[in-house]
Amino acid sequence: MKYLLVFFLTGSIFSFAGDPLIGKKLFYGYFPFKNGGLQCMACHQVNGKGGTLGPDLTKVYTRYGGSEGLKAVLSGETAFPSMKPVFRNSPLTKEEIENLSAFFEEAAKTGKETGKLPGAKFFFALGGFIVFLVGGQVFWRGRLKSVRKRLVESSRY
Ligand code: HEC
Repeated sequence: MKYLLVFFLTGSIFSFAGDPLIGKKLFYGYFPFKNGGLQCMACHQVNGKGGTLGPDLTKVYTRYGGSEGLKAVLSGETAFPSMKPVFRNSPLTKEEIENLSAFFEEAAKTGKETGKLPGAKFFFALGGFIVFLVGGQVFWRGRLKSVRKRLVESSRY
């Protein structure tokens, strides 16, 4: 019985690999974090689902060059200033980080980023601004001229 226990303990320490399914549930808040941290989806998107305060994390696994880099920035208080106040008193456990990392690995292969929308919005805004500038020039042309004319005339005396 004792040996069985030792076997299970060592097994769980040495053979632990992250589970992408558990990671997914943690990310979207179906499973709570052990230390009470806020679910990632409150601020992040993966596959078009989640909040937009933080960056889209669909491809974050690739951006950080794999699980080692990713796990390093998520452990402790996390390396990100906006996340520190939320996770300072509720750090992620090693297991949770492994599971999240496995989920991000899978998402990087199969998921779709939604970073395209803000770009499109930006160009719509830029287009609107140009229309406004050009339209303004045309619309106010006469008025500016008449003001100038009056100024020129009044300076003749
Ligand atoms: C309170 C909102 C919030 C929560 C909750 C949150 N994050 Fe963040 N996260 C951010 C913001 C904002 C950034 C951008 C960097 C910064 O401003 O600090 C960020 C950055 C990151 C980055 C770096 C992204 C990049 O592209 O460089 C990773 C990875 C990350 N968060 C993972 C997570 C994980 C995993 C969770 C859940 C355990 C989580 N975050 C929960 C707000 C949050």
